[in-house]
Amino acid sequence: MFLATRNRKALVGIFAALCVLLAFYGFVPVHADEQEKDRRDPPQAKFTEEGVEGCLSCHGGVRMTLMAETVHGNKDNPHTPYAAHGCESCHGPGSLHSSRARGGKGFPPLLAFRPWESAQENNKACINCHGKSMGGLPGMMWYGNLHQLRGMTCVYCHQSHSTVNKMKDREMQKEICSKCHHRQIEEHPRVGRSFARRKCSACHDVHNPAYEEEE
Ligand code: HEC
Ligand code: HEC
Ligand code: HEC
Ligand code: HEC
Ligand code: HEC
Ligand code: HEC
Repeated sequence: MFLATRNRKALVGIFAALCVLLAFYGFVPVHADEQEKDRRDPPQAKFTEEGVEGCLSCHGGVRMTLMAETVHGNKDNPHTPYAAHGCESCHGPGSLHSSRARGGKGFPPLLAFRPWESAQENNKACINCHGKSMGGLPGMMWYGNLHQLRGMTCVYCHQSHSTVNKMKDREMQKEICSKCHHRQIEEHPRVGRSFARRKCSACHDVHNPAYEEEE
C-alpha cells in the first residue's frame, strides 16, 4: 500500500516533469520561432480576391454600402477605386486583415485616415491616384502648399464615405474653412464685386494656396 502510493506519487512527478519539459522544448520554442520569423520576415498583405464584397461581409451599414454610389464607386470609369481594388484602393491591401489574423479582431487594422495616423501615409493613399491625370480630371498639386506643410490631409476637407461633396457647395465649404480661418473670414478684404457670392475656392486653390485676383 505504502509503496504503491509512493510509486503513484513518483509517476505523477515524472509525468509533470515531462509536461514541463515538453512545454519548454516542444511548444514554447515553436511559438518563439514563429514570432522570430514574423519579425525577420513579416507576412505581406495582398489585395483580396473577394474585394468589396469581402469587406462588406464584416463592415456592413449604410456608410459602407453608400460608397458604391459615390464618384469613387463608379466602375464604368476605369480610373476609380471600384474599377481597381475597391475599398482596398484607398485602405490598402487587406488579405491579412480579412483573414481574421491575430485573434479574429481584424488585425492588423488598415489605414483609417485618422488624425493620429501618419499624414504622409494618409496623403499617399489619395495622391497615388490624384497626383496624375485620370481621364478628364487633371493631376493635382499638393506637396509644398501651406496646408500640407502644416500637417493637414485630404480628409480634413473631403469626406470619402459620403455622396455629398461638401467642397462643391459654397456654404458647406465655408463652414469647414471657418473651423480654422474664422477670424480671417470675418476680417476678409471684400475683394472684387462678386466677393460675397463666390466660393472660397473660386479665388483660392487650397491644394496650392496662392490666390488669383479675379473679377
Ligand atoms: C473578418 C471580419 C473583417 C473583414 C473581412 C474585414 N474587416 Fe476591417 N475590421 C474588422 C474589425 C473587427 C475591425 C476592428 C479592429 C479593432 O477595433 O481593432 C476592423 C477595422 C477596420 C478598419 C479600421 C477602422 C477604425 O475605426 O480604425 C478599417 C479601415 C477596415 N477594417 C477596413 C476593412 C477593409 C477595407 C476590408 C476589406 C479588405 C476589411 N476591413 C475586412 C473586421 C473585418
Ligand atoms: C476613396 C477612398 C475610399 C474608399 C474607396 C473606401 N474608403 Fe473607407 N475611408 C476612407 C476615408 C477617407 C475614411 C476616413 C473617414 C472619412 O473621411 O469618411 C474612411 C473610413 C473608413 C472606416 C473607419 C470607420 C468609419 O466609419 O469611419 C472603415 C471601417 C472603412 N473606411 C471601410 C471601408 C470599406 C469597407 C470600404 C469599401 C466598401 C471603403 N472603406 C472604401 C476612404 C475610402
Ligand atoms: C484608384 C484611384 C483613386 C483613389 C485611390 C482616390 N481617388 Fe478620388 N477620384 C478618382 C477618380 C477617377 C475621380 C473622378 C471621378 C469622376 O470624375 O467621376 C475621383 C474624384 C475625386 C474627387 C472629386 C469628387 C467629385 O464629386 O467630383 C475628390 C474630392 C476625390 N476624388 C478625393 C479623394 C480622396 C480624398 C482620396 C483618398 C482618401 C481619393 N480621392 C482616392 C480616383 C481615385
Ligand atoms: C483645405 C481643404 C482641402 C484639402 C486639405 C484638400 N482639398 Fe481637395 N478640394 C478642396 C476644395 C475647396 C475643392 C474645390 C471644390 C470646388 O470648388 O468644386 C477641392 C477639389 C478637389 C478635387 C476635384 C478637383 C476638380 O478639378 O474637380 C479633387 C480630386 C481633390 N480636391 C482632391 C484632394 C486630395 C487628393 C487632397 C489631399 C491630397 C485634397 N483634395 C485636400 C479642399 C481641400
Ligand atoms: C484644419 C485647419 C484648416 C482648415 C480646415 C483650412 N485651413 Fe487654410 N490654412 C490652415 C493653416 C494652418 C494655414 C497656414 C497658415 C500659416 O501658416 O500662415 C492655412 C493657409 C491658408 C491660406 C493661405 C493664407 C496665407 O497666409 O497665405 C489660404 C488662402 C487658406 N488657408 C484657405 C483655406 C480655405 C479656402 C479653406 C476651406 C476650403 C481652408 N483654408 C481650410 C488651416 C486650415
Ligand atoms: C473674390 C476672391 C476671393 C474670395 C471669394 C475669397 N478670398 Fe480669401 N483672399 C482673396 C484675396 C485677394 C486675398 C489677399 C488679400 C491681401 O493679401 O490683401 C485673400 C486672403 C485670404 C486669406 C489670407 C489672409 C491673411 O491673413 O493673409 C485667407 C486665409 C483667405 N483669404 C481665406 C478665404 C476663405 C476661407 C474664403 C471663403 C469664405 C475666401 N478667402 C474667399 C480673395 C478671395
